[in-house]
Amino acid sequence: MTAPAEPLLTATGLRKSYGPTPALDGADFSIRPGEVVAVMGPSGSGKSTLLHCLAGIVRADAGDVRYDGRSMAGMSDGERSALRRADFGFVFQFGQLVPELTCLENVAMPMRLSGTKRRAAEKQAALWLDRLEVADVAGKRPGEVSGGQGQRVAVARALVSGPRVVFADEPTGALDSLNGERVMRLLTEAAHDTRAAVVLVTHEARVAAYSDREIVVRDGKSRDMERAA
Ligand SMILES: Nc1ncnc2c1ncn2[C@@H]1O[C@H](COP(=O)(O)OP(=O)(O)O)[C@@H](O)[C@H]1O
Ligand SMILES: [Mg+2]
Repeated sequence: MTAPAEPLLTATGLRKSYGPTPALDGADFSIRPGEVVAVMGPSGSGKSTLLHCLAGIVRADAGDVRYDGRSMAGMSDGERSALRRADFGFVFQFGQLVPELTCLENVAMPMRLSGTKRRAAEKQAALWLDRLEVADVAGKRPGEVSGGQGQRVAVARALVSGPRVVFADEPTGALDSLNGERVMRLLTEAAHDTRAAVVLVTHEARVAAYSDREIVVRDGKSRDMERAA
């Protein structure tokens, strides 16, 4: 067997408070290229805060996040948002698609924002909609599709730019179990095929079962099950 790849994203000693109670209280995390890691834990334990710090959306009060050998604590806001656009994809609990745009335009958007011409971006978006088994909703607006279809569109949008890390925060939280399983299967298959790492926040064991490894967050502290084993 070959030695496991070096971690792509590593967080050490993350602390973050909103007011007097810490949301994160010394959280550690690491993920390798192409790995799917589930971040588990009860509601309010700090899972979303951890994801926001890892993705550079929120700046931790202490600790550091290293991505691809670079310290994110040392980056300016502009550098971090450029990094998010270029290297990260996002899926949230409620798709957060732009209601005025068609599903195809929503998926094409990340490519348009990074300067790809409309035709090329929409061609790529159409391929991803097809891959997520929602080619038929391309011309519809998000308000006209089901929750399960909308989440598959959101997954297509997260993957269209070829991200190295996909951050998914309770991506199936608003879906019934059948649609949830379908979204998870399509997300993890696509991620494995493209070697994208996935940080999957969930409180459901059924969803975490799609991951390669689990990390448990409790009271703002995370425990890496791999290291603990
Ligand atoms: N923007 C915020 N402002 C104030 N408190 C927050 C904010 N975000 C999270 N918190 C608090 O931090 C703690 C952890 O929240 P969160 O990371 O959302 O947990 P989880 O995603 O596991 O449910 C909770 O007590 C929550 O109320
Ligand atoms: Mg949350």
